[in-house]
Amino acid sequence: MKNILITGGAGFIGSHVVRLFVNKYPGYHIFNLDKLTYAGNLANLRDIEDKPNYTFIKGDIVDGSFVQQLFAEHRFEGVIHLAAESHVDRSIANPLEFVMTNVVGTVNLLNAARNLWNGNFEGRRFYHISTDEVYGSLGNKGLFTEDTAYDPHSPYSASKAGSDHFVRAYHDTFGIPVVVSNCSNNYGSYQFPEKLIPLFINNIRNKKPLPVYGKGENIRDWLWVEDHARAIDVIYHDGITGETYNIGGHNEWKNIDLIKVMCRVMDRKLGRSEGESEKLITYVKDRAGHDLRYAIDSSKLQRELGWKPSLQFEEGIEKTIDWYLANEEWLSNVTSGDYLRYYESQYVKR
Ligand code: NAD
Ligand code: DAU
Repeated sequence: MKNILITGGAGFIGSHVVRLFVNKYPGYHIFNLDKLTYAGNLANLRDIEDKPNYTFIKGDIVDGSFVQQLFAEHRFEGVIHLAAESHVDRSIANPLEFVMTNVVGTVNLLNAARNLWNGNFEGRRFYHISTDEVYGSLGNKGLFTEDTAYDPHSPYSASKAGSDHFVRAYHDTFGIPVVVSNCSNNYGSYQFPEKLIPLFINNIRNKKPLPVYGKGENIRDWLWVEDHARAIDVIYHDGITGETYNIGGHNEWKNIDLIKVMCRVMDRKLGRSEGESEKLITYVKDRAGHDLRYAIDSSKLQRELGWKPSLQFEEGIEKTIDWYLANEEWLSNVTSGDYLRYYESQYVKR
């Protein structure tokens, strides 16, 4: 058995990665280390929690001595690092929390891997999951490539950029066998409903206002989360040490166009008259430092490692809406308590 550590496995993308690895690789023992912040939810993993090759560990990557002990105890051969504070709006409200988890937490993991592996890197891998937001904002033309200079604008993207730099520095300075990927916006099941797609699905379902930032003209490149998890599998196993791979769906949408598609699909699924949900659209104050456009060139990953997205967006968004409508209990559990306080502070005062 190879012991593999996945951090942030109770979150949105992490839970899809844990599920894929536990089911596909019976020869790996997957340890899921997660602090269970508001974004972490063990209900995301109910279907695999009893598998013999899976163990959940509740813990904080900011606690360096705890992380060291964990590595010493389980002697991980691989690390797939997803744990992070991930929401841009929250980073504007509380930047330091993002520095702690995203930068300090990442350096703690790198230090623990360095200590445990102690120069013996055969069969070892430290895979850091990052975001396209580190590249900043595009104008109307062009795509982010692996060579695009970093230019983060939000405390979230600055903290992810910082962590990426540390990961690469530990490769160059200490020889840690790292690989990094930078992915575009994900959508799909189990995403916490503070992010655009699940938030708007939930609000449409409850006939609540749809808070569109600015004029709704910002553009994002959307990828189905299970395609991201497949890319992580391919890069973990076949990516070249020291390299970076961009992951994206070649699927750009202006926010307002995407929102109108969601409204139309949901009107149909909920038996509402056409145009009913669009009336919920409410333009609100723009996000500070709001990046205009993200778009990823993932040709390196496609050419060198043979990955490509499996789902067209039209099919993916239908599947995603169906999932949230069929999983009302999951949605109501995560939208009670703290969520309501967050919602008040984020939207009611706007
Ligand atoms: P998420 O917020 O849904 O999940 C993050 C997980 O990390 C949660 O389970 C949380 O409990 C855990 N966590 C947070 N702080 C922790 C700490 N100090 N110690 C241990 N665990 C902690 O995030 P996500 O959307 O699934 O993103 C996962 C990773 O992928 C992040 O690194 C993010 O930057 C990156 N990413 C996300 C997207 C996207 O569209 N969501 C796109 C590209 C890259
Ligand atoms: O690009 C990858 C990134 O995508 C990840 O690194 C982040 O973790 C992830 O949160 C996501 O960041 P965004 O800021 O692009 O995602 P979000 O869902 O917050 O917003 C998508 C777009 O929708 C963005 O232009 C802001 C807008 N928006 C968002 C919310 C929550 C609104 O107009 N209204 C809203 O209420």
